[in-house]
Amino acid sequence: MSEPVIRPVTEIRQGVPATDGAGVKLTRILGTHSLMNYDPFLLLDEFRSEDQQDYIAGFPSHPHRGFETVTYMKHGRFRHKDSIGNEGLLTSGGIQWMTAGKGIIHSEMPEVEDGLVWGYQLWLNLPAKDKMIEPRYQDIQPDQIPVVEEEGRWVKVMAGNYNGQEGASETRIPVIYFDVQLKAGIDFSQPMPVDMNGFIYLYEGSAQVGPPDHGAAASKGDLVLLGDGDLLALTAGDEGAGMLVIAGQRLNEPIVRGGPFVMSTEGELRQAFLDYQNGVLVS
Ligand code: CO
Repeated sequence: MSEPVIRPVTEIRQGVPATDGAGVKLTRILGTHSLMNYDPFLLLDEFRSEDQQDYIAGFPSHPHRGFETVTYMKHGRFRHKDSIGNEGLLTSGGIQWMTAGKGIIHSEMPEVEDGLVWGYQLWLNLPAKDKMIEPRYQDIQPDQIPVVEEEGRWVKVMAGNYNGQEGASETRIPVIYFDVQLKAGIDFSQPMPVDMNGFIYLYEGSAQVGPPDHGAAASKGDLVLLGDGDLLALTAGDEGAGMLVIAGQRLNEPIVRGGPFVMSTEGELRQAFLDYQNGVLVS
C-alpha cells in the first residue's frame, strides 16, 4: 500500500445569483456558464433566504429526464408532487433523492416554517444505460440519516461511507454526499477514490484545504474544486466550518443537455422534448 495522495485544490470560485422556477432567487454554484458540467454533477443550487418573496413562488410543474435531482433541506419544508399522484413533504434536515429516469413531471414548492428557507438541489447525471429507467423517489426523513459525531466533528452521511457509517441513500454510481460541521482548528479527512470528481462548498466559516504544505484558504460561499488524489484533507479555521462534501465517480460519457433534460445524444434530447410536447414523457 502506498501512502494516500491528498487532493490539491485546483480552483476556488463563487456561485452566481440566478432566478429559476417561478421566480425563486438562488445561488447557482455548479451549472453556471463557466462551469456547466463537473462530471457526474450537472448543477448545484443554494436557496437561502428569510424573505419569503425570494422563494414562495417555488417550482411549479416541470419535467425531467435522464438524471437525478437530490434536494437537501437544511431548514424549512419543501412539498413535492408529481403528475401521477406521488407526493412527499421534505422537512428540515431531510433529503429527497429523485431518479427522474425516463421521465417525471413534478412541482417543488418551498413552504414557510419560521421565515428561513435554506436548502440545496444537486443534479447528478445518470449513466447512458440508466437514462430511461423507471423513475424512483427516495424521500428520506431527517431521523433516517445517520450522523457521526466525533471530537469537534459532526458528519451527516447522506450518501457514501464515512468512517464505516453507510449513508442513507441508494445511488446508481458511487457518490459521497456529506454535510460536515467542524469546530475551530479541527481537521477532517475522507477517502475519495481517484476515479471520482470531488468538491466542497463552504456555507459557514473557513477552512484550509489540501496538502498541509500547499493548501488553499477557503471561506463562506466558496466552491472548492479538488484535483487528483485519493484523500480529501482539510482543517477548519478560527470560526469553525460548515460545508457540503460531494464527490461522484466520473461517467466519461457525452452530455447533451437542454433545459430539464440531460441525455447522451442530440437525437435523445429531441425525443425528450417531443415526448413532453406529445404528453407521453410519463407513460
Ligand atoms: Co424539478
